[in-house]
Amino acid sequence: MDEIVIPSALIQSLRTASRVAVLTGAGISAESGVPTFRDAQSGLWARYRPEELATPGAFKRDPRLVWEWYEWRRNLVTDAKPNLGHRSLVIMETQVPDFTLITQNVDGLHQMAGSKNVIEIHGNMHRSKCSTEGTIFDQPELYEDKPPLCPDCGAYLRPDVVWFGESLPPEALQASWESAQNCDLFLSIGTSALVEPAATLPLLSQENGAEVAEINIQETRLTPHASYFIVGSAAQVLPELVKITWQVDMSAE
Ligand code: OAD
Repeated sequence: MDEIVIPSALIQSLRTASRVAVLTGAGISAESGVPTFRDAQSGLWARYRPEELATPGAFKRDPRLVWEWYEWRRNLVTDAKPNLGHRSLVIMETQVPDFTLITQNVDGLHQMAGSKNVIEIHGNMHRSKCSTEGTIFDQPELYEDKPPLCPDCGAYLRPDVVWFGESLPPEALQASWESAQNCDLFLSIGTSALVEPAATLPLLSQENGAEVAEINIQETRLTPHASYFIVGSAAQVLPELVKITWQVDMSAE
């Protein structure tokens, strides 16, 4: 493992911060075996790009195909466990007075790890909703039909996730804007910083005086703007960050 270098100024900022906002992307789940969004899709799904399946048009054209893609993605996560990156953020939440975790991921691994204040700005694929009324239904895996029909109105159920071209859940968006505007330190972890409005959140925090630290295995569009850029896997960098800042040894957790 390459030596992880964490600037002492970042440690000081994290140790003294009252309010920390974190934005995670698919990169934090990579070490749990969940392919990132822009990883090549595998097997049966290799012929499709997510942009072709995660859209209202695709669902209208072929609801069964889209439902089965999410079944495949849920099955990928069924065996996935939160990794040290997810678990380090659980510790961080206990150490920082005001901590907000904003995630673009729909895999539910942050909640599985024990994070409490999680804002799911792209929804959660372990929930379904009526495609007409929006009524939420949990445990989609229990349904036989693909897709199931809403027991109330008969319309198709669909994954409770944000598709390309759809707007984000307003309350989640509002909450993430507010935490970005009011934090002292913003951490961007495992995201390509390409998709709006999530990609704007770190820049918004900077406009309000926050420092921005990015953790990624490679540079992104955000890197030139970040106060700190730490190269490395979230599952390796975050435990190191927690250990140096609060002397919490994640290997013992
Ligand atoms: P991407 O697949 O676009 O980017 C994953 C990022 O994680 C890349 O910058 C990788 O370099 C980085 N990465 C990979 N492995 C890592 C690791 N072990 N540790 C740290 N970083 C690692 O996924 P997202 O940025 O999450 O939106 O994509 C954002 C959104 O684009 C998704 O939520 C989805 C998609 O459109 C919707 O579905 C609405």
